[in-house]
Amino acid sequence: MKKIYASMISIGAYAPEKRLTNSDLEKMVDTTDEWIVKRTGIKERRIAAANEATSDLAFKAAEIAIERSGLAKNDIDMVLVATLSGDFLFMPSTAAVLAGKLGLKDTPAFDVLAACSGFIYALATAKAYVESGMARNVLIVGAEVSSRFMDYSDRSVCILFGDGAGAAVISATDDPARAIVDVKIAADGSLWDFLTIEGGSKNPDGKRVMTMKGNETFKIAVRTLTNDVIEILARNNLDSNAITHFVPHQANLRIIQAVGDALKLAPEQVVLTVDKFGNTSAASIPMAINEIYESGRLKTGDLMLLDAFGGGLAWGSALVRFAGK
Ligand code: ACO
Repeated sequence: MKKIYASMISIGAYAPEKRLTNSDLEKMVDTTDEWIVKRTGIKERRIAAANEATSDLAFKAAEIAIERSGLAKNDIDMVLVATLSGDFLFMPSTAAVLAGKLGLKDTPAFDVLAACSGFIYALATAKAYVESGMARNVLIVGAEVSSRFMDYSDRSVCILFGDGAGAAVISATDDPARAIVDVKIAADGSLWDFLTIEGGSKNPDGKRVMTMKGNETFKIAVRTLTNDVIEILARNNLDSNAITHFVPHQANLRIIQAVGDALKLAPEQVVLTVDKFGNTSAASIPMAINEIYESGRLKTGDLMLLDAFGGGLAWGSALVRFAGK
């Protein structure tokens, strides 16, 4: 029997209209544009409209990705949504809501919860389903309206996050040249308290806002992200020169630059959107891929190195040859 490979055949994204700039934040908390730009690289982020939920953003990104894939909606046989800010607290899943909006009535749909690494976890899941023959065309979406879970009086967190969605279609192919080369995911739950949103069974009365041990997270993020990409390149006998686009999670420009420097990447290899979208958590990597797609930088056959890190702590990396047109 011929081996089946999983392939990323399209990308799409959606960013809400409303912009929250650093000068807007200066009026809300004790901060400055200069501090935010210097410490994070962020200039503005997008905020969903009051009538937009996470599945609405996911739907807009998904429609674009499906259209660019050349498939019909009914060809999608699995829907995965990576999010930490779903439409509902635990039930129903945002993936099920999204599948309903897409008109899919008999399709498996579930959420993937791995915070900012969720898109890589969804990619790993889609790859496994496709390669095992259990699915042929998986829609994976990273979507967040994390602004609903922000404490806009906590300057150490609220300046970082923005809303948005990105989607990709992962399809079966027998051509190894179009395949997702490798995906690597990991977690260390002993550090669960570095990033939290309370309100679950452990503390139902806890505040449903994001908390973060920023400085501790920063140090572990740089070390883990660097080691992770070195490992995935090594186990595939690849050098960082082979990478056309390094697409890291857009949490902080300083983290991205530290990893880029450790890998000796040229600036043109590194994809940056953190300045205009901030940290969109699970949406950040697909939104960044969409950015290079729409600007014409991403070409069929280009090798992307994806790299994410976040709450859990959970992290992951992937080597993806783009097979879209
Ligand atoms: N404006 C002005 N001053 C501020 C602000 C602000 N918005 N926020 C914090 N400060 C102050 C602090 O109070 C502190 O003051 P002090 O020295 O008087 O105590 C000082 O700035 C330095 O604070 P640090 O927290 O040490 O600042 P740091 O350089 O670490 O930057 C940041 C903070 C941007 C949060 C950084 O630590 C970071 O990016 N961390 C990692 C984030 C990350 O990768 N998260 C994982 C993904 S997210 C997810 O999974 C959901």
